[in-house]
Amino acid sequence: MDSFAVREAVLEDAQGISEVLQEIAAAGKRKKRCDVDFAREHYVADPDRIRCSVAVQGEQILGFQSLKWAVENNPYGAPAGWGVIGTHIRPSAARRGVGRALFRATLLAAQESGLSAIDATISPTNAEGLAFYSAMGFVDYRQHDGARCKCFSVTRGREP
Ligand SMILES: CC(C)(COP(=O)(O)OP(=O)(O)OC[C@H]1O[C@@H](n2cnc3c(N)ncnc32)[C@H](O)[C@@H]1OP(=O)(O)O)[C@@H](O)C(=O)NCCC(=O)NCCS
Repeated sequence: MDSFAVREAVLEDAQGISEVLQEIAAAGKRKKRCDVDFAREHYVADPDRIRCSVAVQGEQILGFQSLKWAVENNPYGAPAGWGVIGTHIRPSAARRGVGRALFRATLLAAQESGLSAIDATISPTNAEGLAFYSAMGFVDYRQHDGARCKCFSVTRGREP
């Protein structure tokens, strides 16, 4: 695909992030909220945010990746003090290295924040999500409410 840039998300990106989620939902790959308020509150302006990065081509956001602190009693059941990651790429931009490029930025932010590890909680039926995180170096470490949880050791280090 033509080149794209990765940068930190700003409040004005909530609309574009919502559109990414809507395209994923339209492809039958998402059932949760996709609206602009959700994008703003859950990703761009979340108080637990460490970094939310967007991949941009021209005016369009191709995808984004969120890294947040795992606070006590977080909904993913991740160990407190770890990071929790989420990755969402437009189906029309999938399998072109966007997720991989976003993870480079996320990993830098994780290192700068002193995180030891990152949790990725994925539905067991989400084959592409499981394959993506495995390709980034995440390994299975637990299950939570029927989801598969993979972890990445930041301190051990591994280039995606
Ligand atoms: C899963 C997802 C994040 C992957 O993003 P992407 O930008 O398409 O991934 P990349 O192109 O950077 O792929 C990196 C590597 O991941 C693996 N991978 C990615 N998509 C894959 C797929 N559909 N099947 C198998 N392996 C896949 C491959 O090893 C790939 O490397 P390669 O293309 O050189 O073989 C994207 O498809 C997506 O957003 N899906 C919907 C939302 C979702 O399920 N998110 C994950 C759970 S939070």
